[in-house]
Amino acid sequence: MSGFSAPHCGSLRPSDEGRELELYGWVARRRDHGGLIFIDLRDRWGVVQVVFNPSHATAAHERASDLRSEYVVRVGGKVARRRSGAENPRMPTGEVEVIASDLEIISIAKTPPFAIEDDVEADEALRLKYRYLDIRRPKMTHNLELRHRVVQAIHRYMDAQDFMEVETPMLLKGTPEGSRDFIVPSRLHPGEFFALPQSPQQLKQLLMVAGIGRYYQIARCLRDEDLRADRVVEITQLDVEMSFCTEEDVLALIEGLWQKVWKDVLGIDIPTPFRRIDMQEALLKYGTDKPDLRYDLEITDVSDALRETGATVLRSALHSGGVVRCLAVPGGKDMSRRELDELALLATGAGAKGLAWMPGPLDRHLGEGEMSAIRSAVGAGADDLVLIVADRRRKAETVMGLLRREIARRRKLVRHGEWNFLWVYPMYLFEEDDMGNLTYGHHPFTSPWPEDMPMLTSRPYEVRARAYDCVLNGVEISGGSIRIHDRELQERVFEILGMDRDRIRSQFGHLLDAFEYGVPPHGGIAAGIDRLMMAITETENIRDVVAFPKTQSHQDLMLGAPSPVDPKQLEELHIRVVPAKKTPS
Ligand code: AMO
Repeated sequence: MSGFSAPHCGSLRPSDEGRELELYGWVARRRDHGGLIFIDLRDRWGVVQVVFNPSHATAAHERASDLRSEYVVRVGGKVARRRSGAENPRMPTGEVEVIASDLEIISIAKTPPFAIEDDVEADEALRLKYRYLDIRRPKMTHNLELRHRVVQAIHRYMDAQDFMEVETPMLLKGTPEGSRDFIVPSRLHPGEFFALPQSPQQLKQLLMVAGIGRYYQIARCLRDEDLRADRVVEITQLDVEMSFCTEEDVLALIEGLWQKVWKDVLGIDIPTPFRRIDMQEALLKYGTDKPDLRYDLEITDVSDALRETGATVLRSALHSGGVVRCLAVPGGKDMSRRELDELALLATGAGAKGLAWMPGPLDRHLGEGEMSAIRSAVGAGADDLVLIVADRRRKAETVMGLLRREIARRRKLVRHGEWNFLWVYPMYLFEEDDMGNLTYGHHPFTSPWPEDMPMLTSRPYEVRARAYDCVLNGVEISGGSIRIHDRELQERVFEILGMDRDRIRSQFGHLLDAFEYGVPPHGGIAAGIDRLMMAITETENIRDVVAFPKTQSHQDLMLGAPSPVDPKQLEELHIRVVPAKKTPS
């Protein structure tokens, strides 16, 4: 066999006419036509038609009649142009075919559990269980190929910019990135555990103390968090850190990187610099920290115009410290009551007290002046409908953000094919978690905005961070910050986050100590390759750009993992498993 030097099925073109060759591949389809047998032969590079003619190659033709889908074969033959009228313009190889003179069946195959074709819907669980068959589907192969091209372009760019790839360990101590750690028991240190990296954050900062200056890595990060359509457990990040830099250096580096990737991989010129908006503006105008600007809908605050309104729902929200936010739906006056009820359900499902609209039932409680103030504030024309939400600021933002997305989807306002990159910068240093407690916005190593330092303890939520997120078409594809490099300030931030001295010492002592041995100012960023590939391939499902992903419930259906381990293994690790309590169903 000479598989390595063999030409590829998918790469044959009219210029190969007359070429004698051997092809290896999988039978995608067999058709018998009046004595002739046609097969579509598939490999990673595509599909080509092979013809078996009984009068030209009797033995091969006879063997070809045994072929079934997914058999692996070797075909010997000659490339010919298809006769006029028989070309297939939908196939890149559609102008040629291979006239077979020889056929070897290398391995036979059972009927696959789903058709190995792009347009055939298959249950995702089945696709994941037989992922090796799913990857044979041209679209999946193409996604993996694109991913490879993107990563290669990244390596070329980072190398040209003088960044050094350094590998960091998988067995670490926990580092806070906002998720749970996956932990690994130590056999040699009973009762002690490693944590798998949620990111190489602290190590890359230590590499800056080590004088590496410009580091990058295509790093695997593991986060035990609830999965959504755009989340994976095992994240691949382009992880970057640089010394003696400002935000401007990091932003310019990443803009250049995306420019290079889009040019090399897609042949598209991306204009730079990207638009920047600060977090406050993003939340106000778009109701999210990752706005999709492929559509124009903008949210407006109309609180000031309504302080003394006769509409009690709005007034009482305002008097209890809330806000009133509006969104004009272009041409929305034609929306049916049913559609409006669905939107209201979406709003209340997200925790809003309700949804009002204008014109609508609220009109009789609003004065003429108030209605026209609202209309002019949101720039609503005569045919437009105005959606109104009155609530606590954070709730109103979230709900308005959801409505904005839903309106764009329903009314087909998204300009597909547009690459809308933007920076959200600056962001906030602290956030409120789901329990109402103060937590970090990006991560606890992020530097506060210098002018906002005096508010660190008095008004922490107002402190801006030297942090930035790069958003593409509404997907957060990268995030980073300029770091704290001062021991005292870092300790203060940990304390504001509620950590006591002992915890700070045991969890972060190594980093704080390192800051006392000559630390350069530094900053960086990490880009989610999985998310990036989602945006590039315009898929809604992140698992379509990952070779062997876990399910939403963190399982590998192909390997059957996680699974119980041999009791002997547990014994060696000094671990006893307590059976999980059954939760009543
Ligand atoms: P962050 O947590 O923002 O920052 O992650 C950086 C980027 O990684 C991607 N990402 C994910 N992709 C898929 N599934 C997930 N569960 C997931 N979580 C994150 C996103 C995100 O923008 N150490 C910092 C970076 C830094 O400060 O330099 C970090 O990891 O695209």
